[in-house]
Amino acid sequence: MPKVTYISHDGAERQVELPAGWTLMQGATLNGIDGIEGECGGSCGCATCHVYVDERFADKLAPMSEVEDEMLDCTESPREANSRLGCQIKATPEIDGIIVRLPEAQS
Ligand code: FES
Repeated sequence: MPKVTYISHDGAERQVELPAGWTLMQGATLNGIDGIEGECGGSCGCATCHVYVDERFADKLAPMSEVEDEMLDCTESPREANSRLGCQIKATPEIDGIIVRLPEAQS
């Protein structure tokens, strides 16, 4: 199962293994990791699953959709070049070991 490391805004790290096909948002919310809300349930409609993807994994991710791109303009914390929505990133063997940093705020 792909491993994902979540680093909270205060620097706390938590690594979890996700069943293939789960999203990084699901992996956080179902494992009690604070810093990702996922209010819309993963339908790319709330931007409360904003994460900053470690640059070493940026080119391993599927390209973002137009909807994700638009939603990333609605995040509470600043959008950066490595910003993605956690509900749009699926755990696959290709991203095993991925590291994401969680923003200061989600809303
Ligand atoms: S969970 Fe709502 S946009 Fe990702």
